[in-house]
Amino acid sequence: MTGPRAADAPDERPARPARPARTARAGRPADPVRVRLCPGGPLLVRGAQEVLDADGVAHPVERPVVAVCACGATGRAPWCDGTHARISPRR
Ligand code: FES
Repeated sequence: MTGPRAADAPDERPARPARPARTARAGRPADPVRVRLCPGGPLLVRGAQEVLDADGVAHPVERPVVAVCACGATGRAPWCDGTHARISPRR
């Protein structure tokens, strides 16, 4: 006799968290989320559906590109409000 077959063995892998569905356009797969770091400024995030703040709170994204504060000085976290330009001169 042999051990349990793979099909009979319990699946011990942890369940993956569900990924939010992304909308494909005209039969194409959804574009990946892209992030660009602006030196001395925000992160420009393209294609995201939500941004999680430092506390894990989800902020829905309703534009194609959003600026996420990377300096920590914004008054409207997680979004950039331009404060970085006053505290950190552009290099
Ligand atoms: S990066 Fe713009 S306010 Fe922080």
